[in-house]
Amino acid sequence: MSYHGSMHRALAQENVARSTFAQTGVFGRMFPGLEAFPFSDAMLEALVAKIVADSQEPRQIGGGGPVNPRIPAGFTFFGQFVDHDITFDPTSSLEQQNDPEAIWNFRTPVLELDNVYGAGPSVSPFLYDSSAGPRASPAKLLIGLDSRGAENDLPRNRQGTALIGDPRNDENLIVSQLHLAFLKFHNKVVDHIRAHGNEHGTKPLDDRLAFADAQRIVRWHYQWIVLNEFLPLIVGQETINTLLGTSGPLVGQDPIGNVLDYLTFYRWSEDPFIPVEFAVAAYRFGHSQVRAGYSINNAFGALLFSDVPNGPSLAVGGNLVAAAAGHPVLNADRAVDWARFNRIPGVVPADGFPQESKMIDGKLSPPLFTLPNIAPGNPLDPRSLPLRNLKRGRAFGLPPGQLVARVMEAKHILSDAELEIDGLGFPAGVAPLWYYILKEAEVQHGGQQLAKWAARSWRRS
Ligand code: HEM
Repeated sequence: MSYHGSMHRALAQENVARSTFAQTGVFGRMFPGLEAFPFSDAMLEALVAKIVADSQEPRQIGGGGPVNPRIPAGFTFFGQFVDHDITFDPTSSLEQQNDPEAIWNFRTPVLELDNVYGAGPSVSPFLYDSSAGPRASPAKLLIGLDSRGAENDLPRNRQGTALIGDPRNDENLIVSQLHLAFLKFHNKVVDHIRAHGNEHGTKPLDDRLAFADAQRIVRWHYQWIVLNEFLPLIVGQETINTLLGTSGPLVGQDPIGNVLDYLTFYRWSEDPFIPVEFAVAAYRFGHSQVRAGYSINNAFGALLFSDVPNGPSLAVGGNLVAAAAGHPVLNADRAVDWARFNRIPGVVPADGFPQESKMIDGKLSPPLFTLPNIAPGNPLDPRSLPLRNLKRGRAFGLPPGQLVARVMEAKHILSDAELEIDGLGFPAGVAPLWYYILKEAEVQHGGQQLAKWAARSWRRS
């Protein structure tokens, strides 16, 4: 039986991982009945070589491939920030099979900013401003000083390590400064509600209540941005409307009579969980949006990661300098000018700004092939981000993209010619899920957004 011919059999077969009803705390599967394909190292390496070969344009600020006029570059890093709020797998193996239900997610699968707030002032006190005294319950988050003594850096310990809820938010200058923006926003909201009251006009009686009010308001604003600005750019308003059921709840029946609704592909029993199809494939679409380098402000710009040792780059470490106190802090000349990354109402950006994101397509910018924090020369721990994504997908037993697209009733299944995988050693009609999703965006939307999803054959009640 051909691979595709076996698809429906696979839905019912015994020998597949099942974990739809995972507990919060571990990962799970969205399509537990779909069979994985055992891609060989040679296939994955051939695909990566194609991705890198096509993106060998000069490494330069703004380079890395064609741009997406629809999505400003700031949203790439907002997307990375969102990822760091909901999913973190520091423990699975790249080489051996992993059961998602046995792998802990170090973030909660909820848009509530645990990467900013940690576990709150009592459990994560190092994140908070205790200047009111050790007995006071801090309402504000701690902010660090840059090399000129201005509150423009993350708080850092004496070795320069950022004191934040998720270490990945200090991975590059842009996401680091975005994290700082959230710290500042929270503290401004505390000032605002102390002066004017919360959404009901009630002024907090103490710092504990001021914190709780501010945290709620910050989370609401963040969730508003995700739903009303970020997702429409990434998946399009039409898909959001379908999922939210804005034109009536989406309910129907599949060909064998199972009741379907908008959560048909994602269900949980007690608590939500992050599916590996999302964390290891779909949501890694953002890697394709990253450009080779960025202009940070009118005095500084650099490649994301340098190709020469200690060369200028946007890796945070190289942009820290020793402060008067002796510990490393951000060089004040490296603060991000956000008008270079986002359209900001009322702010006229310099000519040519905001910078655009890279198109979402089957190619990645060159710096992502030599990640800086991984030692070279160990094939079991590759420095290439696309190879890591593909191997991680294999180690979690993800189903091929075509199989998922068929089960989701995609209107168009990409051909091997559209996927440009002929000659790479793949069997016909089989491609890794992460790569398939990138090519869907490229083929169906010119790289400007991910493929739309519409429940074609379902009835609306
Ligand atoms: C800005 C440059 C970025 C770099 C250097 C970067 C780097 C990385 C690295 C090294 C990993 C771990 C790979 C592995 O071993 O499997 C990773 C994971 C991931 N990245 Fe990125 N990334 C970037 C941007 C983004 C963006 C823009 C998004 C989404 C919009 C994203 C989404 C993810 C997701 C979902 C994971 C899996 C997280 C987990 O569950 O642990 N990344 N990234």
